[in-house]
Amino acid sequence: MINIYADSRELCLAAAELFTSQAVAAIDKKGAFRVALSGGSTPRQLYEELAKPFWRDRINWEKVLIFWGDERHVPAGDALSNQNMTREALLDHIPIPADNIFPVPFTESPAAAASQYEATLHKCFPTLPVFDLVLLGLGKDGHTASLFPGNKALTEKTRWVCSSRPLSGGPDRVTLTYPVINQAATICFLVTGTDKAGIVREIIEGHASAVPYPAEKICPVNGQLIWLLDQAAAACLESSK
Ligand code: 6PG
Repeated sequence: MINIYADSRELCLAAAELFTSQAVAAIDKKGAFRVALSGGSTPRQLYEELAKPFWRDRINWEKVLIFWGDERHVPAGDALSNQNMTREALLDHIPIPADNIFPVPFTESPAAAASQYEATLHKCFPTLPVFDLVLLGLGKDGHTASLFPGNKALTEKTRWVCSSRPLSGGPDRVTLTYPVINQAATICFLVTGTDKAGIVREIIEGHASAVPYPAEKICPVNGQLIWLLDQAAAACLESSK
């Protein structure tokens, strides 16, 4: 499913409605809503929106369990931390119990942090995790979460969490792997801006390279894949012309 919105504001409102309706439905059906959040500027806008009373008050946050699809290997309070961004934008403004929040730990190495986070997931999920919702951003190089082109994490078939290194430099990362992400009931890409139009077209409508972009291998096993795009990010799509 591909939904295109006039601008990032309209996309943000649609994403907030999706998040809220999915949370209410999961809590009604199973008593909990397990979501893996993304870093990035577009997801941040969504988190800031969800903190507003209109959305905040529709969700029983006591039943929401917050995880991250990926994290930078930095201390929790670091400006580069996805956890820090999410706390500033959302978690510090909603009545969610601290025990419902499962941040990626900052430890002696990215590999150790990945192992610890995998152990955390094993405590929360009896078998391969099935998140109700996984939010994803998209990089211009076709990365998503912290699954970067050429990275060994792309070939991981059994681990739930592993470390990775961005091509553009910056801190090492910890990321959920395809086996976990693709199990989710709903996977939702949030993509805005003209700088993403080219990669969006290549991923959705195809490209000449024999090597798939990391985001192309996001393919739900049993769930649904949703693209929320603003018109700028969708500008190169044949289907949007
Ligand atoms: C991160 C994200 C990463 C991000 C994309 C898009 O930790 O940075 O997980 O995958 O979502 O790079 O980021 P923007 O939405 O800011 O372009």
